[in-house]
Formats: sequence, C-alpha cells, structure tokens
Amino acid sequence: MGMRIDILTLFPEVISAFCQASIVARAVSRGLVQIVATNLRGFATDAYGSVDDAPYGGGAGMVLMCQPVYDAVEAVRPQHPHPGKVVLLTPQGRRLDQALAAALAAEPRLILLAGHYEGFDERTRMGLADVEVSLGDFVLSGGEVAAMALIDAVVRLLPGALGQEASLHEESFSAGLLEYPQYTRPREFRGMVVPEVLLSGDHLRIAAWRTQQAELRTMQRRPDLWNKYAKDAGQTRDLSDAPPRTRRR
Ligand code: ADE
Repeated sequence: MGMRIDILTLFPEVISAFCQASIVARAVSRGLVQIVATNLRGFATDAYGSVDDAPYGGGAGMVLMCQPVYDAVEAVRPQHPHPGKVVLLTPQGRRLDQALAAALAAEPRLILLAGHYEGFDERTRMGLADVEVSLGDFVLSGGEVAAMALIDAVVRLLPGALGQEASLHEESFSAGLLEYPQYTRPREFRGMVVPEVLLSGDHLRIAAWRTQQAELRTMQRRPDLWNKYAKDAGQTRDLSDAPPRTRRR
C-alpha cells in the first residue's frame, strides 16, 4: 500500500490544486501516495464555524483552538491502518532538510497540521504533535505553503516517483553538495558560452568537472554544508583550504 498524507487545514482547496500538478500528481496517479486534505472548519462546533479565539492573557491575533484540531485528527486517524505521525508546521520546529524529508518519506503515514492566525494553542503541540517542522527562519501567514513544500520534498523520494535519471541526480544532493551548473542549447547565448568540457563527449572528464564545480560552489556559498561534507568524507580539509569567496550573483 502507498503512503498516506493527511493535511488538516483551513484552505484544503489550495492543497488539492497543488496535488493535482507535477510530480506529486504523478505519484498520486501511480498509487505511491494518497493525499487527503481536510478542512478544520468542518470541526467547528458553533454556527459561525469558529476555529480560533483570542489569546488568554491578551495580545494581538487569534489562536487556533485545540478542539477542532483534536477532533479533526481523531476523525481522520481511523481512515487508515497506520495512526500516522502528526507533523506540526511551525517556525519553531526543526528546519526541513533533505535528511528529514528522507526520514518522513519512510513513514507509512503523516498527518500534517497547517496552522493559521497567531498559531496553535500550546496544548495542540503537547498532546498531538509528534514532530514540529519549520521551513526556515521566516514567518509565513499559514502552514499551507510549508505543508506543500514538505509534501513535495517527501513525495519525490518515494520509490517510483521519479525517473531513473532524476533519482541518480538526487544522490548528488543527498551527498551534501549544491548542484553543479547546467546548460542546454544554444552553445552561445548573448556572449556566454557553454564550458568546453560539456561538449567534449568525455564522460569521465564531465563527471570530474561536475564534482569539482559542485564542491567549489558548496565551499563558496555554503561553508556549513561544505564542512559537514568534508568531515563525512573523512577528509581533513575544511574552510582553511577553500579558495577566497568570489562574487555572488
Ligand atoms: N508557519 C508559519 N511560518 C512557518 C514556517 N517558517 N515554517 C513552517 N510553518 C510555518
């Protein structure tokens, strides 16, 4: 059976549109993943469909109440044999990276909680969340974009989601390096030419050039990734061996 991803959100139509496009749609149609968006509003208990309220202690903004969130999780849980890990999307979570995406892709089921307003009631975190995930150190007005980024990063890692070529490509990033430069036709564009080696047909030289470029780029732009890569590779070189930082574009 494929993976199941539930998303509890106030904007299920946004998620549905996203899941009908691109690689995610293809993975869904291949049966690799089932994605179900559920509207939290459906779990409101009053006539206005309220899911949020003012914070105790005062202050600006509204807080997503526990009750609709707990009720929604408890309603979707029995819809699949695996209870699933509950993932809260919040700027206070663990930063999403390739390793976390890979770990989540190994789960049989995920239940994503996309918050809105000023955030979740603390008791939603305490009683419901298995893991809290952040897209980065910036504030989104809702968790939906973060949920979609997570879905995209996870689904493309499911076996069969990508073609052969693409999965090999994936490995280079998983090795912890930034991507090497890519070119396609024409050979010359507005005076900028394709590096000669790529036209040489010499696959060994091309592979060596690409590795070198990926390493160079990683050193120059992401010293944090570079040091980790160098260490993991059992190498002793670190930033002190890196060339001076060059102009960024
Ligand atoms: N919700 C609001 N901001 C977010 C962020 N940076 N990451 C994940 N979820 C969020």
